[in-house]
Amino acid sequence: MKRILIMHGPNLNLLGTREPDVYGAQTLDDINTLLHAYAAERDTELHIVQSNHEGVLISEIHLARFPMVGEPKHGIVINPGAFTHTSIAIRDALAGVELPVVEVHLSNVHAREAFRHHSYIAPIAVGQISGFGANSYLLGLQALLDHLG
Ligand code: DQA
Repeated sequence: MKRILIMHGPNLNLLGTREPDVYGAQTLDDINTLLHAYAAERDTELHIVQSNHEGVLISEIHLARFPMVGEPKHGIVINPGAFTHTSIAIRDALAGVELPVVEVHLSNVHAREAFRHHSYIAPIAVGQISGFGANSYLLGLQALLDHLG
């Protein structure tokens, strides 16, 4: 049984109503339901976190490797939202815990504004999946589990 941390960064709690032309009509609950269904097929346990706060996300990354209770996670799928483009602290936390990371985005960040083209996370990730809507998360989870073997 694999244990994976799924992280949703800032503003992703608004999915469904937030710029639906860019991010789609599915809510975060819809996406989490899809993820749980796929995880069940892959004998995988998910811990899913959404936060609008950089420090909360950093603490959750630390706990994934050094939990207060239970076993460490095997890897992380993260949509860091706008922190992708700003947060050296989230990158350092991910690099620091030495867990394999897959970065995902609903929209194709490379086809959007120039400020979205740079990711602080991508260089320390196993890979990045961008532009497939909710499917980016499923592809990301699949890629991470395949990577873990
Ligand atoms: C996003 C892309 C980011 O540039 C943006 O700030 C988000 C969502 C995505 O999933 O497409 O909040 O990460």
